[in-house]
Amino acid sequence: MDNYNLILFFLLLFISSEIRAQQQDKDEPFVGVNIGTDVTNLLPAADLVAFLQLQKITHVRLYDADGDILRALAKTKIRVIVSVPNNQLLAIGSSNATAATWIGRNVAAYYPETLISGVAVGDEVLTTIPTSAPLLMPAIESLYSALVAANLHTQIKISTPNSASIILDPFPPSQAFFNQSLTPVLTQLLQFCSRTQSPLMMNLYPYYVFMQNKGVVPLENSLFKPLTPSKEMVDPNTLLHYTNVLDAMLDSVYFSMKNLNVTDVVVLVSETGWPSKGDSKEPYATIDNADTYNSNLIKHVFDRSGTPLHPEITSNVYIYELFNEDLRSPPISEANWGLFYGNSTPVYLLHVSGSGSFLANDTTNRTYCVAVDGLDGKTLQTALDWACGPGRANCSEIQPGQSCYQPNNVKGHASYAFDSYYQKQGKFAGSCDFKGAAMITTSDPSK
Ligand SMILES: *[C@@H]1O[C@H](CO)[C@@H](O)[C@H](O)[C@H]1NC(C)=O
Ligand SMILES: *[C@@H]1O[C@H](CO)[C@@H](O)[C@H](O)[C@H]1NC(C)=O
Ligand SMILES: *[C@@H]1O[C@H](CO)[C@@H](O)[C@H](O)[C@H]1NC(C)=O
Ligand SMILES: *[C@@H]1O[C@H](CO)[C@@H](O)[C@H](O)[C@H]1NC(C)=O
Ligand SMILES: *[C@@H]1O[C@H](CO)[C@@H](O)[C@H](O)[C@H]1NC(C)=O
Ligand SMILES: *[C@@H]1O[C@H](CO)[C@@H](O)[C@H](O)[C@H]1NC(C)=O
Repeated sequence: MDNYNLILFFLLLFISSEIRAQQQDKDEPFVGVNIGTDVTNLLPAADLVAFLQLQKITHVRLYDADGDILRALAKTKIRVIVSVPNNQLLAIGSSNATAATWIGRNVAAYYPETLISGVAVGDEVLTTIPTSAPLLMPAIESLYSALVAANLHTQIKISTPNSASIILDPFPPSQAFFNQSLTPVLTQLLQFCSRTQSPLMMNLYPYYVFMQNKGVVPLENSLFKPLTPSKEMVDPNTLLHYTNVLDAMLDSVYFSMKNLNVTDVVVLVSETGWPSKGDSKEPYATIDNADTYNSNLIKHVFDRSGTPLHPEITSNVYIYELFNEDLRSPPISEANWGLFYGNSTPVYLLHVSGSGSFLANDTTNRTYCVAVDGLDGKTLQTALDWACGPGRANCSEIQPGQSCYQPNNVKGHASYAFDSYYQKQGKFAGSCDFKGAAMITTSDPSK
């Protein structure tokens, strides 16, 4: 090969691997975050974007089209969904020119320097402001026409986030159907999504399903915790087994769409999450539950196991939300859905190590698994033997003469072995238990 051909060869090789990388990027499911801004001293846009990059957050959704944030996102790889606030629907839904101006000012002005991936038109319009429902499809259609005119419609998708309450009788999923009063507009919406290959955006909160059906829906099931088979929900019509509420909610959406003969629209979870604090009527809004829900959610998405009905489709999800919105009115949970406080310190330590690089800079790798206090030696020894034996923890350093042999007591050795096992398991929730003999701590036990 002469030099010219060699260069061409490498160029082609580069381009084809680039395309492959992009293709993979496209197929890889992702976890994004919603950025609500009712926060005291919200980080300035540049700091906010630096924080997102530090946390390896790759997808965000804004509730408006804030120019400062969109500018700060320029030349980053972060993809962003911008939103048309509900109070702009009237103007946009009644004038094609206003819609075109909106796209020009809030999308075309920033793209492609800022990777805008979607436009969310309103939020839960059909359930929170039903009187505006007739404006929804005109607004979506005119915004879409404006995107087509700007030749951005293949890169940027338009949809509208819906509340789960548009679905009646969601359990069992096979019997779910859309509220019939909404069928006309939903039919138009789904036809639009199908025609433009846009997702149906759904805000899905197992937290509220659990709160409204206490005693029927087990907490474990809502938190993606492993269930004994007897507690799994079985859909009597399909015999599909549901091990978690989110998958059941997703399948209820797919069955509802199927009832309208729509089978080619994918669901995007535009919001999901769990509050970490609540008032006396919200006893399940705790740090532990929020941590478990969001950690297991992230793991579930990166597992790519889909839903029982659609194992081949793993929905992308946006966690609600990045920051605790401390300025929100009661109940207390409203101000406590965030992964971080407004000053960007974490509210709790997610347990997501080993699940891709999302939030790779979180504090999870500063957690340790140790033996709990006050257990008898025999219980600890049994757990220790399991960890070093079947559990395949690395126990070489606690053998006689090795560096962690001293102090030579079963609690010290057990802590070493538990932690070895826990680290090897990627700190997954559940890998620090040993039948209750172990607990997670943030203080380094070797110090
Ligand atoms: C907007 O444009 C579409 C065609 O692109 C047209 O059908 C519709 O009537 C227009 N709406 C208004 C309010 O002018
Ligand atoms: C169905 O939607 C209509 C129209 O928004 C609403 O009035 C009604 O309460 C809904 N039905 C249920 C059971 O939620
Ligand atoms: C769905 O398709 C079936 C069979 O073609 C038809 O009978 C039914 O009316 C359709 N339903 C809707 C909502 O279009
Ligand atoms: C991210 O990691 C760096 C380096 O370890 C640390 O200085 C920074 O405080 C971390 N940020 C957060 C939000 O944990
Ligand atoms: C924590 O994780 C980060 C990112 O994966 C890594 O760079 C860092 O070395 C880890 N720290 C420890 C103490 O393991
Ligand atoms: C076990 O830990 C020791 C000390 O950290 C290390 O040298 C050794 O390679 C580890 N063995 C395995 C199998 O990981």
